[in-house]
Amino acid sequence: MIDTPAFQYHSGELNCENVSIMDIISTIGTPFYLYSAARLEQNYQRFSAAFATLQPRIFYSVKANTNLSILHLLKEKGCGFDIVSGGELFRTLNAGASPAGIVFAGVGKMQAELEFAVKSRIGWFNIESICEAERLNSVAEQSGDVVKVALRLRPDVKAGGHPYLVTGHASSKFGMCPDEGISLIKRAADFPYLELGGVHIHIGSQLADPAATLAAIDVVLDFIATSGLGQLTKTRGKVPLLNIGGGFPVPYHDGVAVTSIEDFAASIISRLQPMAANLNFAIEPGRFLTADIGALILSVQYKKEVDGHCVLVVDGGINALLRPALYDAYHRVLPLTSPKSNEEQLLTSIVGPICESSDVLARNRILPCLKPGDCIAILDTGAYGFTMASNYNSQPRPAEVLVEGKTFRLIRRRETYNDLVADES
Ligand SMILES: Cc1ncc(COP(=O)(O)O)c(C=O)c1O
Repeated sequence: MIDTPAFQYHSGELNCENVSIMDIISTIGTPFYLYSAARLEQNYQRFSAAFATLQPRIFYSVKANTNLSILHLLKEKGCGFDIVSGGELFRTLNAGASPAGIVFAGVGKMQAELEFAVKSRIGWFNIESICEAERLNSVAEQSGDVVKVALRLRPDVKAGGHPYLVTGHASSKFGMCPDEGISLIKRAADFPYLELGGVHIHIGSQLADPAATLAAIDVVLDFIATSGLGQLTKTRGKVPLLNIGGGFPVPYHDGVAVTSIEDFAASIISRLQPMAANLNFAIEPGRFLTADIGALILSVQYKKEVDGHCVLVVDGGINALLRPALYDAYHRVLPLTSPKSNEEQLLTSIVGPICESSDVLARNRILPCLKPGDCIAILDTGAYGFTMASNYNSQPRPAEVLVEGKTFRLIRRRETYNDLVADES
C-alpha cells in the first residue's frame, strides 16, 4: 500500500504533494490550513483495507474536518458520514452525500435538528436516552416515517488519549447505560415510529490499543443477546447493526509509534468475525482519515527572548488551532526550508497573538534560528483544526487550501473584518 506523507522536503523546500508551500504563500499569504487530497485517498484506502473482512459501512466523522471539498472527496470514494448536528447534516447534504449514508449521533439533538434529519430521510439515528427516543418518535410520527435507530451505549470502559477525549465511562454524559437500553427495548411498542435495529458505541479518541474497544464490544454483544434487541430485529427478518464508533489513533509525535490501524482492526476482526453472519457492522473514523492530511501554515511576526530561550510569535494561535490549549496536544512543527546539518538550532516556543497565556502552539522545540517573515507548518492539523477555530480576539479564521498533485486551490477563503461584523447590528 502506498504510504507517502502529505508534507515532505523537496530540494530543501517543504512541499504538500508536489506543490511548494512557499508558492502557495506567495499567492494567498498566511495563515491557512493546507490539505493533501492524495493523502486522504491513501488513508481511506488503508482504513477500508484494514477492516475489509467485516465489510463495515464506513461513516466519516464529519466533526473532524467539515470542509465541503473534503466531504465531497470522501463521498466520491463511497464513504458515509457521521454527523452530530443539523449544521453538519446541512453541510454533508451540500457536499452531495446520499441521506441514506448518514448517521446522526449527539447527546443533545434539538427538535429542529431531528425534524430536519427525519425530513431528509437519513440512514440511522444513534440515540442517547429514552427521553430522546420519545422526542424522535413524535417527530417521526408527524412525518409518518419509521426511522432506523441504534442505541448509543455507555459500556463503562475508560479509554482515550486525554481526560476530555474519554466518553465511554459510567459517569460520561454520552449514551445510555445498558439498563436504560433494556428499558427502552422493553418499551419498543411505545415507539412505533422507531425501528430499534442496532447498537452504537464511541468510547473515546486517540485510543492507545484495542483492549478497551474489545471490552466495550463484549458489553454490546451481551446486550444484543440479552436485552431482546437481537430477537426484535429477527422478527423483522433483519440482523442488528453494531456500530463501533471511531477513536483510532494517529502518531502525533516523531518516533512515538501508535497501534497501527492494521493491528487495531485485526483484534476487532478476530472478536467479531465469528458473529459476522448475525450482525452488520459500521465504523466512524474521524482523525485517522484527516489528521495527517493537513498542516496549519503560519508566518513568524516577532522573535523574542524570554527566560533565555527563543519565542516566536506567529499569526495564528488558539483562535486557529485550539488543540494544544484544550488537550495539551502535541503537534510537530517544521520550518518551510529544511534545516542544514551545520545550522544553529535553538530551544524555541511558538506562541500566537491571542491575549491568553494558554496561547502556546508548541513548547520548547529544537528549531533552526527563525526570524520574522519566515513561515512554519504545524503538522497533523487536518482533524479538529479548522473545525475548532474561532474568532476569539476578533481574529478572522484562516483560509483552507487543497492540493491535488501539482495544483492547489482555495477551498475556503480567509475571513475578512467585514465577515466579523456582518451579522451584527
Ligand atoms: C460519535 C463519534 N464517532 C466518531 C468520532 C471520531 O473520533 P476520532 O476522530 O477519534 O476517530 C467521534 C469523535 O468525537 C464521535 O463523537
